[in-house]
Amino acid sequence: MPPTGGSLARRRSRVRTAVTALTATVAATIGLVSLAGTANAANTLGAAAASSGRYFGAAVAANHLGESQYAATFDTEFNAVTPENEMKWDATERSRGSFSFGAADQIVSNAQAHGMKIRGHTLVWHNQLPGWVSNLSASDLQSAMDNHITQVMTHFKGKIYAWDVVNEAFADGGSGQHRSSPFQDKLGNGFIEHAFRTAHSVDSNAKLCYNDYNIENWTDAKTQGVYNMVKDFKSRGVPIDCVGFQSHFGSSGPPSSFQTTLSNFAALGVDVQLTELDIAQAPATAYTNTVKACLSVARCTGITVWGVTDKYSWRSGDNPLLFDGSYNKKAAYTAVLNALNAGGVTTPPTTPSTSPPTTPPTTPPTTPPTSGPLCTASYAVTNSWAGGYQVDVTVKSTGTAALSAWTVSWSQPTGQTISQMWNAVQGTSGALTTAHNTSYNGSVAPGATTSFGYLVDTGQTPPSALQLSCTFT
Ligand code: XIL
Repeated sequence: MPPTGGSLARRRSRVRTAVTALTATVAATIGLVSLAGTANAANTLGAAAASSGRYFGAAVAANHLGESQYAATFDTEFNAVTPENEMKWDATERSRGSFSFGAADQIVSNAQAHGMKIRGHTLVWHNQLPGWVSNLSASDLQSAMDNHITQVMTHFKGKIYAWDVVNEAFADGGSGQHRSSPFQDKLGNGFIEHAFRTAHSVDSNAKLCYNDYNIENWTDAKTQGVYNMVKDFKSRGVPIDCVGFQSHFGSSGPPSSFQTTLSNFAALGVDVQLTELDIAQAPATAYTNTVKACLSVARCTGITVWGVTDKYSWRSGDNPLLFDGSYNKKAAYTAVLNALNAGGVTTPPTTPSTSPPTTPPTTPPTTPPTSGPLCTASYAVTNSWAGGYQVDVTVKSTGTAALSAWTVSWSQPTGQTISQMWNAVQGTSGALTTAHNTSYNGSVAPGATTSFGYLVDTGQTPPSALQLSCTFT
């Protein structure tokens, strides 16, 4: 989907503002704690990053893949890809319920043919959002968002390394709060958490990331706002796996606190990634400092530059990438390659992050599942406000065979009418309320989960617990 001139101009002017706000000082030295092997220096960015277990990717546009120099440079140098625009809402669901994946599929199959990791970008974002989404009522917007996440993630299921589930939800400036957007304004603060829970129910194998710009400088209010959100999510078990730092830098490169920011986020128990790196005029030192900041943090799993060549950069006036407009390697390319080849800190995944429980569960199940399809359902209130509340129900397949269909039933408290249900079809069975799987989430492998949700907006407080029973076929 070609961007409109207006939207590009808006994005560019935003970057200019971001860039002037950056500090001019760059850390002179960033020490590496340990080095990976350097005996055989690799001669491509992807291979050099792989020497310390990381990836080095580029954003690509499907409509350039037919250009031989573009494709050759990309295929040779990089081992990961992010579709620059092709997975965004305006490209995948321009009109409601009608999905198109052609351009994204092209990028995905090219990446698969070359064994590259794929970052999915992006599911919920206020930009490049078709007009129809902004015009919906709150409950309709909730189901449109859930359906969008579900359909897009289902289409690419098993192929995506990490999804930018929510992009750029925090405000610029000193507030540290969420920005105004159709999602924020109609669904409230809980929309980010809800998006992650929905994404987790669709594909629990993909890493689920929050992605933003101008969160690289540790003391900035925006950085702190995102950090506090991630800390809260981790403490409450909201499924978030990673944070993407866009890293659109001015010519002085990253702020001197960048490595501190990355390690502080990583200490919360998430991976961190540099997701859209580009630096005005591409100074070699600025690129080196950026790459070293990532390599110095064990959970910094990879770096993506936002384009292959200056010729097609969204900041083309800035010449911010590693290859010039004629695909020549710039000095920054060599600097990055050398930094990657010097290796970085890695942690072998040997020790589990949590110690095993010391006490056995007190009540063993009376009838342990032995064979066939079986399921359980659990209930969690994910959001509540003066006018109602929102529930997520997790359906777990607990038998030895996959579920092919499921129905959850419960007694809905009198007067607490469900106004909206997503990822399940509502019904009744006698006095009970039922939720039956949709066409896309009935099959659940043994041990796996799926989830659905509903809204009650008649003003009551949610019941603290609800007895749910799950039946299967
Ligand atoms: C940019 C693309 O590079 C442009 O082609 C498009 O016109 C606008 O979007 N933050 C993001 C990216 O998360 O999706 C944006 O990509 C750049 C800023």
